[in-house]
Amino acid sequence: MKRSFIFAILFLTGIATIFAAANVTKATARGKQSYDIESFMHAVKDDGLHTKVIKGEATRKEQKLFSAFVNAMPNNTPPKGTAESWAALTSALVQATANHRKGVTGSSEALAAAMTCKACHENHKVYPPKE
Ligand code: HEC
Repeated sequence: MKRSFIFAILFLTGIATIFAAANVTKATARGKQSYDIESFMHAVKDDGLHTKVIKGEATRKEQKLFSAFVNAMPNNTPPKGTAESWAALTSALVQATANHRKGVTGSSEALAAAMTCKACHENHKVYPPKE
């Protein structure tokens, strides 16, 4: 009798732990924005985030999101290519984004150039895409 009681407690604690762990996983998946390359790329491709920013049509929130993605880029690691090339491309993008936010003349064109998909993918993306 006493033993089965202890087992019951252990069993219930086990269940509670599993539920707690599942909740934590869900919270991180839902609540926290990730600024990795893939999340940025999907915001660009699926939502046209960069186009809105370049055209000056982004909301404050979208502008902030774009800047956060861009600023995280130099610290992300691409699956391919040299560190020098990655640093050059991503710092150009960071600079172009900063100039664009400040409203520097010609900054829209510069940002569009820094966001050229092919220039970066050629060196740093593995083909075929793994979508
Ligand atoms: C500064 C570099 C850079 C620029 C500019 C860039 N990309 Fe990417 N993109 C990458 C890298 C690196 C990957 C590979 C990510 C991986 O496989 O982890 C990638 C992957 C992707 C993917 C696949 C994402 C996935 O699920 O694996 C899509 C879609 C994509 N890019 C769209 C675009 C589009 C559209 C543009 C232009 C408007 C663009 N990218 C501009 C660096 C860039």
